[in-house]
Amino acid sequence: MAGRIPSPFIDAVLARTDIVELVGTRVPLRKAGKDHKACCPFHEERTPSFTVSADKQFYHCFGCGAHGTAITFLMEYERLGFVEAVTELARRAGLDMPEDGAPLRPAGPDLRPVLVDASRYFQEALRHHPTAARAHDYLKGRGVTGAIAKTFHLGYAPAVWDGLLGALSQYDGKTLEQAGLVIARDQGGYYDRFRDRVMFPIEDLQGRVIGFGGRVLDRGEPKYLNSPETVLFHKGRELYGLPQAVKTIETEKRAVVVEGYMDVIALAQHGITHAVATLGTATTREHLERLFRLCPEVVFCFDGDRAGRDAAWRALEQALSVLRDGRQVTFLFLPEGEDPDTLVRREGPEGFRQRLHRAVELRQFFFDTLSRQVDLTRDDGRARLFELAKPFLSKLPQGALHEIMMTRLAELTGLAGDRVRALVPPPPPSPARPGRGPRGGFSPKGSPSLVRQAIALLLQAPALIGEIGELPACDRPGMDVLVALVAILKETPGLSTAAVVERFGGTEHHQALLRLAAWEYPALVADQALQLREIMDRLSEQTQRESAQKRYRFLIKKGNLSASEQEELDRLAVHRRTGAPDISQ
Ligand code: UTP
Ligand code: MN
Repeated sequence: MAGRIPSPFIDAVLARTDIVELVGTRVPLRKAGKDHKACCPFHEERTPSFTVSADKQFYHCFGCGAHGTAITFLMEYERLGFVEAVTELARRAGLDMPEDGAPLRPAGPDLRPVLVDASRYFQEALRHHPTAARAHDYLKGRGVTGAIAKTFHLGYAPAVWDGLLGALSQYDGKTLEQAGLVIARDQGGYYDRFRDRVMFPIEDLQGRVIGFGGRVLDRGEPKYLNSPETVLFHKGRELYGLPQAVKTIETEKRAVVVEGYMDVIALAQHGITHAVATLGTATTREHLERLFRLCPEVVFCFDGDRAGRDAAWRALEQALSVLRDGRQVTFLFLPEGEDPDTLVRREGPEGFRQRLHRAVELRQFFFDTLSRQVDLTRDDGRARLFELAKPFLSKLPQGALHEIMMTRLAELTGLAGDRVRALVPPPPPSPARPGRGPRGGFSPKGSPSLVRQAIALLLQAPALIGEIGELPACDRPGMDVLVALVAILKETPGLSTAAVVERFGGTEHHQALLRLAAWEYPALVADQALQLREIMDRLSEQTQRESAQKRYRFLIKKGNLSASEQEELDRLAVHRRTGAPDISQ
């Protein structure tokens, strides 16, 4: 199956995929030293033993032994096939799947460092640019403190056409354009997209910049300018302020979704630090899934006007299908003409908190909205309510909330509860996720062979390929894999652990290599380069000894072994019996 998709394409897809980000949008990861940790999505547990390594682009659970690459993660977690998983990753990375035999579209540059440098430039400009006073005045006028500006890494784009272009001249214009930072001129060349604006970097859950929003300093259109969608930035997925809010969201067990950048910032400044904003787009299921992985309740904050109620209804529609038991959405409608920013400044944090506690429950908002469209005093009105409610409620997963909604629908329509339940069945439950991860840690009996240790070291630290010289010519088990592995690493330096393992996708060795890549063999942990050199030396030595023994045996058979040769053979045999680990497995 893997043979169909060329390996260089899989390399390119993995090179542009960040497993920490991929897993992080599905499982709440926490930084732990060099790695990230979470409770394992493949088995039930309370303390996190699921580890994701950015270096290796690999995950491993010490609890259930699940392990693998971004590709296997999607296969296990989303229940995709291999080709589907690669296709999904390619889509996210902005790569077109190669058609059979078609040449590959070259992989574009890595945009992450570009965005990091751009954010630094904007922050630096807010501190030191000659015209930065304009931005300071604006922020001060809106009551934004220096501390909060720092927390949110606010910046300033000066009113020039080539500020960023000049400051980031180490990148070519095309790269800056792909990062959404500059725009191509018709007559050639580029100019800065963001000019004379306060800059709001948009960051992913791990706090890495993926895009920007910029607000005009005085009147001007558009009021907010956002980065275009890029390989890294998808508005339907990202939430402004998430990395700053994540801790509080977890402790308060609740997330507040507002509409604007400044709303998040004003709330945070008043101590309400669990708010995030959608980026000028409607709330998506993906937004909700991300939040529900962090907390059980999402409060939507909308204007009390018509537009706000429409937006709330659209959010409700998205929410229905993800409202499994234990998850809750509520709606906070603000007074006419107010947004969270103005309200929290006027009423203070306590006032705003009280409003949060009084947020309207889904059941009430749902039935109020629909009831307003019919006349409940009439039979045909109640029948109409049933018809209106049915398509929405049939999306609601089985559980207590579904039950509550059925009861209410029965009350309002006067239909028997059983009838309502029979007519509005919940969707079939989705297959249980846990339990598909490969089971059992990798603990080979006895000491592992040298070949196996060498493979594991090279998989776990592909940069060690430089330590490998000529491979000994032997036919130990696994030697063919080691030879293939070395060839791949010599030909394509810089592959991650995951990319190397996926080179063997679809072969009989794939599973074994996945295990070796995740294998925690104590001897392999410390000074890996030294370990590898020693292993290779021992492998060469043993190979030489074995071929010498073979030769002597041949001579014995022919009956012409000299005395000194007989002595040497005895020495080798003793050495072999008392020698270090069994090498043959
Ligand atoms: P609002 O127009 O409600 O602005 O847009 P706001 O957040 O209250 O802005 P301030 O207080 O005047 O600074 C809400 C959100 O909609 C998106 C932005 O994300 C904004 O924060 N938006 C709005 C845009 O993307 N572009 C626009 O031109 C306007
Ligand atoms: Mn506002």
